[in-house]
Amino acid sequence: MIELKNVNKFYSTGDETLHALKNINLKIEEGEFLAIMGPSGSGKSTMIKILGLLDNNFEGEYLMLNKDIRSLSDDDLSSFRNEKIGFIFQDFNLIKRLSVKENIELPMLYRGCSMRETKAVVIEALKKVKLEHKINKYPTQLSGGQQQRVSIARSLVNKPKIIIADEPTGALDSTTSKEIMEIFKDLNKEGITIILITHDINVARKSNRIMSIFDGELKEGEM
Ligand SMILES: Nc1ncnc2c1ncn2[C@@H]1O[C@H](COP(=O)(O)OP(=O)(O)OP(=O)(O)O)[C@@H](O)[C@H]1O
Ligand SMILES: [Mg+2]
Repeated sequence: MIELKNVNKFYSTGDETLHALKNINLKIEEGEFLAIMGPSGSGKSTMIKILGLLDNNFEGEYLMLNKDIRSLSDDDLSSFRNEKIGFIFQDFNLIKRLSVKENIELPMLYRGCSMRETKAVVIEALKKVKLEHKINKYPTQLSGGQQQRVSIARSLVNKPKIIIADEPTGALDSTTSKEIMEIFKDLNKEGITIILITHDINVARKSNRIMSIFDGELKEGEM
């Protein structure tokens, strides 16, 4: 479902060039649950931005669902991304002045759905993260773990094939982290491919495949 071939990423600042990803070759099959580990500055976020179609400025080949990513226009790339990928972040990225329901329906409204269509989908997504009873609350009224569950529900409303999560448990204690990982495992069982970045080996071990990145080089297995 995902194939990177000889991918290299360079950052240029002034007259310096940084070789941030070095000759990455990676195949991810549909239904995999992959964790990527690596020290600070090793290239994890750089990698996730490319995998998540947020950065199209790299060398090499990238196929997602048999589409050559480099051949898509910016508009086609955005709609492909919105249709296929759900994103989860360490700091949840919820909008404070919007309710749980309003946060979750936002990606649907961006896609052009009407308000009439959203409610049933929002409730279905909230059921998957066991938070239906908080539908009318606001983010500040929820714990960190609950906010992360809302952000997972938000990532589900456009029925993504892939979920990409950058340190999703980074701001949570170990018990709450386990609960979040159980949700990812359930979603994975339903067929969603999951790629997550983590510093925590206990989190990584809940996945089915661990890769490590060091100084821009990606390797199979734990560090
Ligand atoms: N926009 C940028 N311009 C220039 N250099 C960058 C840019 N973004 C990242 N880098 C550099 O690329 C390297 C990889 O950065 P990246 O953010 O991918 O690391 P990371 O593994 O996600 O680290 P962390 O665990 O701290 O989030 C680092 O040396 C960083 O300084
Ligand atoms: Mg990072």
